[in-house]
Amino acid sequence: MLDVIYSRRSIRKYQQKPVEDEKLNEILRAAMYAPSAMNKQPWRFIVCKERNTLDEIQKIHPYSSMLKTAPCCIIVCGDTDIEYAQGSYIQDCAASVENLLLAAKSLGLGTCWLGIYPDKNRQEDFRKTFNMPENTKPFCAIALGYPNEEIATPNRFDKSKIHFEKW
Ligand SMILES: Cc1cc2nc3c(=O)[nH]c(=O)nc-3n(C[C@H](O)[C@H](O)[C@H](O)COP(=O)(O)O)c2cc1C
Repeated sequence: MLDVIYSRRSIRKYQQKPVEDEKLNEILRAAMYAPSAMNKQPWRFIVCKERNTLDEIQKIHPYSSMLKTAPCCIIVCGDTDIEYAQGSYIQDCAASVENLLLAAKSLGLGTCWLGIYPDKNRQEDFRKTFNMPENTKPFCAIALGYPNEEIATPNRFDKSKIHFEKW
């Protein structure tokens, strides 16, 4: 588990190999096992595999060129009708996304988190392009596929960021 956490990297080059449905289901299952405020589980997912859709995303997201090679993209959204408090879908979706990234890594797949929230225009572009209802807020998109690059684990542990008892 710790090895998966440390070795996960954002992957921007992918093999031309589809993601098996069993793996995709397992990854989505892991995403749904995240903690959420009052256990509301407000996350929703749109799985995109068609080349047309992956190209459409690149038109509305400026930093998504890895979707030229990625065979799959999952759009993670939050349902504001059922979130516990206003805006809590953001934390719930973020927890879900981290589970998703780590599950993918543990199954040999690569991912890259593409931010949508907090850019309101980008959220609206995604909502309209994907016919989402008003109460469904696009949070981020995740490129997914078999990696075609290897990235070394950086050293990020920084004692100066830790305080004990009080600041
Ligand atoms: C909120 C958020 C938004 C991000 N948006 C993008 C993005 O639009 N395009 C991209 O290529 N990477 C994006 N990333 C990935 C980061 O660039 C990456 O996580 C960071 O550089 C650390 O690298 P690592 O994921 O390999 O550890 C995003 C990550 C987060 C958490």
